Formats: sequence, C-alpha cells, structure tokens
Amino acid sequence: MEEERVVTSYELVEDEIDNSIRPETLEEYIGQTDVKENIKVFIEAAKIRKEPLDHVLLYGPPGLGKTTLAFIMAHELGSNIKTASGPSIEKAGDLAAVLSTLEDGDVLFIDEIHRMPRFIEEILYPAMEDFSLDIIVGGDGSNRSIKIDLPPFTLVGATTRAGDLSAPLRDRFGIIAKLNYYTNEELKMIIERTSRVLAMPINEEAALELARRSRGTPRIANRLFKRVRDFALVDGLNEIDLDTTKKALNRLKVDEMGLDETDYQLLKAIIEKFNGGPVGIEAIASAIGEEVSTIEDVYEPYLLQNGLLKRTARGRVVTEKGYEHLHIEYQENIFKN
Ligand SMILES: Nc1ncnc2c1ncn2[C@@H]1O[C@H](COP(=O)(O)OP(=O)(O)OP(=O)(O)O)[C@@H](O)[C@H]1O
Ligand SMILES: [Mg+2]
Repeated sequence: MEEERVVTSYELVEDEIDNSIRPETLEEYIGQTDVKENIKVFIEAAKIRKEPLDHVLLYGPPGLGKTTLAFIMAHELGSNIKTASGPSIEKAGDLAAVLSTLEDGDVLFIDEIHRMPRFIEEILYPAMEDFSLDIIVGGDGSNRSIKIDLPPFTLVGATTRAGDLSAPLRDRFGIIAKLNYYTNEELKMIIERTSRVLAMPINEEAALELARRSRGTPRIANRLFKRVRDFALVDGLNEIDLDTTKKALNRLKVDEMGLDETDYQLLKAIIEKFNGGPVGIEAIASAIGEEVSTIEDVYEPYLLQNGLLKRTARGRVVTEKGYEHLHIEYQENIFKN
C-alpha cells in the first residue's frame, strides 16, 4: 500500500532507472549545508593524513540523500565503494565475504544498518576499530578463532532509525550526521537541476509549486517532476508551467502541502475515531491498516514537522492547524495537552 503512493519517500523501481539525476560531487549536492561543510573538512583532513576517513553514520527519513551522500564521499575520497544492506547480511559469512573484498581506502556502505542482526554487529566492532576480522573455524569441538587483517577502510552506515542501533555500534562511528528535510528553496534548486539533466525546462513558479508539494524530500521532488513532465509532454508544452503542474498534482491527489490520501486517512482516523486524540500509535496503525514502523518513519515525521500532528505523553493529537487543513471544525478537548 505504502509502495503505491506517488508521494512515498521510499524508493520505487522507477526512481532508480534514472541514476543520471543523482549528483556525484559535494559541489552538486544541494542543501544539508552543515553536514556537507563538516564532511568536506573531514575528507580533506583524511587526505592530508593519508588515512581513511573516520567511519560515518548517516541518519534521517527516507529519500533525503543518504545513499547519494555515501557515493559522493567515496567519489571525493577518490575511493571505490562497495555496498551491502543490513537485512541481506544474515550470517557471519555474509559479512566476512563483503569485508574480504575491501581494498585499501575503500568505502563500505551498509544501507539500513539498523536491520543487521546483533551478533553480526559484534563481528563489525573489531573490523571498525582495528581493521581486523576474527573468525571462528572448526566446528568439530576444536573451534578456534583466527584473526585476519583487513585493509584500512571507511564504513558508511545509513539508517532511518538511529535509535534502533545498539549503543556500542553507534559509538564506533567517529562522524554521525543527521539529514534534515529540505527547504522549499533547496527543493526548487534540486528540481531545476533535474530539469536541466533531463532536458525538460520548467519555469520558476512551477518549480516552486512542485517544491512545496514534495514533503521536504528530494526523491519525491524528482518523482513528481517526472510525472508532471509527462502531463506537459502530452499537452505539447516545451516548458513546464504552473497550470500544468497544478493540474498534474491535483490529478495525482497531492495537495498544496504534499499530503496525499493516506495522510488524510490518518488524520481523519484520529479525528473521527479517537476524537482528535490523544491516541496511541498502535491504535492508529490498526485503524488505517498500516504498519507502526511505516507511520513512524514515513507519515508522522512530515506531519509533526509541519505542526498538523503533535506527540504528547499520552499519544498523538491532531492540532488546530491539522483540523484547519482538513477543513474540519476544531473541537477543543481537555485531554489534548
Ligand atoms: N542533496 C541533493 N541534491 C540533489 N539531489 C538529491 C540530493 N539528495 C538526494 N537527491 C536525489 O534524491 C534521490 C534520493 O536520494 P537517496 O537515494 O540518496 O536517498 P536516501 O536517503 O538514501 O533514501 P533511503 O533512505 O530510502 O535509502 C537521489 O536519487 C537523488 O537524485
Ligand atoms: Mg538509500
């Protein structure tokens, strides 16, 4: 269900077809200024010291550019990047296999690192700290541990949930960077860049309108751009304008704030079934037939950030602004605070 939303921040197959729109250098990477500036300094320092960059943990909601940034770091370091993802590393041997391919100075990117089993994390500790791999050989009662040296490398971990990482793993990252939602101005620049790369012009007010409806997320901005481009193409335009943008987005049921039907469903469920809240996340999840983790990772952050939803000790509450956005009369509730 989540996968079918045009405004989903999760990656869809159609997104990956277009790797051409992914920036390759720090210079081209728009926004996230603090993170970018810091990483730039750390990369330069590592190069001067001729040592690998310290391990980096990137966290933040889906679609904000963690994978992109990992590839950019490797590019700026002049290193190769090897990739793996948390859920695909199930056995000690899976991790050993990845580690054994590493060469001096490589970047190892582990996506969704919070989904790696705990016992695998423990194998990662010595690899991160001393560039060594302890493996158990034998199995006939004569188990012994052998130590294998690894070349110096940089682990870049990405996660949507830094809180799900064990403290010992988190502590082994020298650089921890949080990616935030992008401003409309930054998204507009991303859209204009994509427009240049895909050779489909868009005028300024149309780009800003698209930005406003992209939930602070570049992945969504790029996806919406491509959908709007289709409408413009069919209408025979050689530049995307505001009218077409509005028409296309309304057709796609993405509102002025980037909310879609699922967001409406969520807010309405809280208002109609739970009197506006406070209500626990589990109850909301079952009311709208979604996973708790999807609500927490994908819907909620944007609704919270924009003040349509509020988190209280007793649960989620739809704010006055939330009611207004849905054109539902606000009902004062003594339990709301
Ligand atoms: N700062 C940026 N400037 C320009 N384009 C960007 C930027 N960040 C992301 N993008 C675009 O958005 C798309 C999504 O980014 P990316 O795949 O890196 O997100 P992610 O954070 O890894 O998401 P996930 O958590 O789902 O893996 C990229 O393909 C890229 O085109
Ligand atoms: Mg990614």
